[in-house]
Amino acid sequence: MKRKVTKAIFPVAGLGTRFLPATKSIPKEIMTLVDRPLIQYAIDEARAAGIKEFIFVTSRGKGALEDYFDHSHELESTLRKAGKEDLLEALRDTNMESGAIAYIRQHKALGLGHAVWCARRLIGQEPFAVILPDDVIAAEKPCLQQMVEAHAETGGNMVAAMEVPSEKTSAYGILDIRDDMGALVSVKGMVEKPAANTAPSNLAVIGRYILTPKIFQHLNRLKSGAGGEVQLTDAIAEEISRSNNVYGFRFRGQRFDCGSKAGFLQATVAFGLAREELHEEFIQFLIGMTATRKAAE
Ligand code: G1P
Repeated sequence: MKRKVTKAIFPVAGLGTRFLPATKSIPKEIMTLVDRPLIQYAIDEARAAGIKEFIFVTSRGKGALEDYFDHSHELESTLRKAGKEDLLEALRDTNMESGAIAYIRQHKALGLGHAVWCARRLIGQEPFAVILPDDVIAAEKPCLQQMVEAHAETGGNMVAAMEVPSEKTSAYGILDIRDDMGALVSVKGMVEKPAANTAPSNLAVIGRYILTPKIFQHLNRLKSGAGGEVQLTDAIAEEISRSNNVYGFRFRGQRFDCGSKAGFLQATVAFGLAREELHEEFIQFLIGMTATRKAAE
């Protein structure tokens, strides 16, 4: 019997130096697309996929993240007295059931593989998800839900995958494809951030994973890989060589790299336009901006 995926690890220990000075005092995961922090998008996606336990791998200076998921009794009672039901509803999504959320400290920034390994004692024998909140995915059916459904058929390990331009392979984990079945790809190898001329394909790993606990055995033994960091990609590659049960999944949706400024701005525009109450005013503004720029050229 295939087990259900009910736990997710959120590696959120990164310093977010690409967004300094903002990230000097706020965690990058609290940065906001329209009116919701990045982490809220990740949590909503996890919930839609049936995740019940949320494990955050944090670091020093991430207190705002913990506060964000706490009940704010004062604020809630003020809103209740004022009859602001819509705002209370917006807050409800930020509340976590007692015991549903756990925080683990990653004491040293040793890489994504190490961050996931830090959560090993909270994962039992079932497969679990990993969500990188920097990768925001707009999709009719949330990406992790698509993956959980596909995983119910395949079992094993699964990574979200997307084609990237050949010159961009050095920014991603890249899949070596054994059998391309369309949405599903059986994988025979994985390389972290290969140079364009050495990449086995241009199918890149995006920050959604469903992994079996065996991954921890490989992470136990791992030394630093690309960029001097312990790489999750290397642990998954090790699993391929042993059990051959790793799949890439081409999700349906648009991914934004909110770890980069350009990606963050693009996501802001896309999510802003997707809001009914903002759409008209925002699109008029964008059309006006484009026209002014064209005229100036
Ligand atoms: C991480 C992973 C990489 C993956 C990427 C997706 O890299 O190591 O394999 O392709 O996320 O966003 P990072 O972007 O943290 O350097």
